Amino acid sequence: MEFLQLTRDQHQPPSGAEPLGHVIAVRGSQVTLALRTAASNGGGEERVTVGTFVGIRVGDSLLLAMITNVAVQSRTVSDSEGGAVAADLDMLGEIQNHGRSDARFQRGIVNHPAIGDCAIRAGSPELRLAFTIGASNIIDIGHLHQDHAVSAHIDVDHMLNKHFAVLGTTGVGKSSGVAVLLHEILKARPDVRIFLLDAHNEYGRCFGDRAQVINTQNLKLPFWLFSFEELCDVFFGGRKGLEEEIEYLAEVIPIAKNTYAQNRRPTDSPIIRRTDSRNVAFTIDTPVPFRITDLVMLLNERMGKLENRSSRLAYYKLMTRIETVVNDPRHAFMFENANVGGDTMAEVLSRLFRLPTNGVPMTVMQFAGFPSDVLDAVVSVLCRMAFELGLWSDGVSPLLLVCEEAHRYVSADRSLGFDPTRRSIARIAKEGRKYGVFLGLISQRPSEIDPTILSQCSTLFAMRMTNDNDQDLVRTTVPDTATSLLSFLPSLGTREVFAFGEGVAMPSRLRFKEMAPEMLPRSDATGVDPRVVDPEMQHDFMASVVERWRGVRTPADGPDLSYVLGGADLQSSFPIAPTSPHQSAEPEHFGQLRRPSTMRAEDTLRQTLSDRWRK
Ligand SMILES: Nc1ncnc2c1ncn2[C@@H]1O[C@H](COP(=O)(O)OP(=O)(O)O)[C@@H](O)[C@H]1O
Ligand SMILES: [Mg+2]
Repeated sequence: MEFLQLTRDQHQPPSGAEPLGHVIAVRGSQVTLALRTAASNGGGEERVTVGTFVGIRVGDSLLLAMITNVAVQSRTVSDSEGGAVAADLDMLGEIQNHGRSDARFQRGIVNHPAIGDCAIRAGSPELRLAFTIGASNIIDIGHLHQDHAVSAHIDVDHMLNKHFAVLGTTGVGKSSGVAVLLHEILKARPDVRIFLLDAHNEYGRCFGDRAQVINTQNLKLPFWLFSFEELCDVFFGGRKGLEEEIEYLAEVIPIAKNTYAQNRRPTDSPIIRRTDSRNVAFTIDTPVPFRITDLVMLLNERMGKLENRSSRLAYYKLMTRIETVVNDPRHAFMFENANVGGDTMAEVLSRLFRLPTNGVPMTVMQFAGFPSDVLDAVVSVLCRMAFELGLWSDGVSPLLLVCEEAHRYVSADRSLGFDPTRRSIARIAKEGRKYGVFLGLISQRPSEIDPTILSQCSTLFAMRMTNDNDQDLVRTTVPDTATSLLSFLPSLGTREVFAFGEGVAMPSRLRFKEMAPEMLPRSDATGVDPRVVDPEMQHDFMASVVERWRGVRTPADGPDLSYVLGGADLQSSFPIAPTSPHQSAEPEHFGQLRRPSTMRAEDTLRQTLSDRWRK
């Protein structure tokens, strides 16, 4: 290697700092330094190794670079004050007017270094300048890995507007990091409401009185808010060969909606009464109330008019299916008031999505404990309504939808997951910004997330990842200048994160703030920490597990199930027209409909009591 005659000025370390070494090669944005041996093996914080930030003085500027590789040079670097250690650097940007009051950092390099330029360790003032964001809304989520005195700042407006993702293997601190992020967002953006899909019931205690926790016990999501696809998933669960039943259901739902609307309107309403199925005012997906009794009555009427036994059977099966699903106590959150009606859409939305916030801007929606047969549909309804609420309110009040286990809902494999959920989340990713609906995706399997959706997230928090596919995916998402940082991905510690994209000044290695142990996300799927269950209490614990399993609620907080296709009301709700020529053909079928399984114990009791009175 040929050495140039260096000027005295180039040899001088800037601002009197101890020199680390000097430039011996420059290739585009990469630089090689000959390191002084003393610098390369110094102890503690002073060690110079991969990840260390370095400044190179060029005129009035200080070029900021990061060491990506250090090695003993086999070709001896003959320098009187240096050793034989070479360090490769990636240049990140330039502090112009360094050392003056008007110093400012810019990404990219205008003045390239030359051979022999002196390098120093970049200090906190330099890093602070480089990692400071000039935006008005900044959140502080921790500190820079390399220098704990430098805060990790995120431009919260950019991060929200263009969506974000937190990716990394299980146990690296994703959920805790998300809790840190959300806490800070709540502070910095009081106008933003947050809706968190909590797959493992982890976040219940993280946000104190800033969040309401919704779970199986207190969710109210009337079935008529479900789209037709979502309802079909509840009733048919994706089973094949039920096209006939699905078709019958599709025919009667708009009529049931219309019937309900007509019955609710005052008689002097100018709206024309429509009863004909060809003339209904609502589409199958319009979120307006209808009654299950009306639905079954319509099906019953239609069945009554049929001669063909196999078609009658499809109707019968459909009615039985509806009855079974509606009567399942685990589904009470959707079928409560199924026959009473009442347009509660505004209340339901207002409560779920905190509009008005009433001092509680966040909802933690806990899904552990929900029956798996309705889970997909419930998630879909919530994601769809989150978007549509933004759409129909012209984005007046911003909402952040945070999605744990995102790979479950927006899987890269289109045959997995529930398509309506994928579509809703994809819509938020693509158009949400226009309507003030933002997305935060969290996943331990980034490579299994639909890449078109993930690519819409322009701020990425990548935590430790060991799987090659996951690393490759992150590699394709980050800018070229940051790819050298990614070689650290498999070795990141807990709480450590690489942040890239719109929300940060520069790709940077950060450490999330430490959360107090009582605020850390922790799974409480059973509501009890099994580690603290007293052996004496094991029996109660098991009883509560069994109760949850069966979906039985305590009378105090449980719904009154007597509305569900049962009791005296039902007879009048299911008038089996005496004129029907088929009435006697299958009477036992209607018997089933009239006597829902959940009511049997009660009925028996009633029977016993009335027998006693007679005696
Ligand atoms: N910011 C943090 N503050 C304090 N402890 C943390 C933090 N991040 C992670 N931890 C520790 O690491 C554990 C796993 O973190 P967690 O957020 O549950 O990881 P993940 O969601 O990636 O599985 C936590 O239980 C906690 O002990
Ligand atoms: Mg987690």
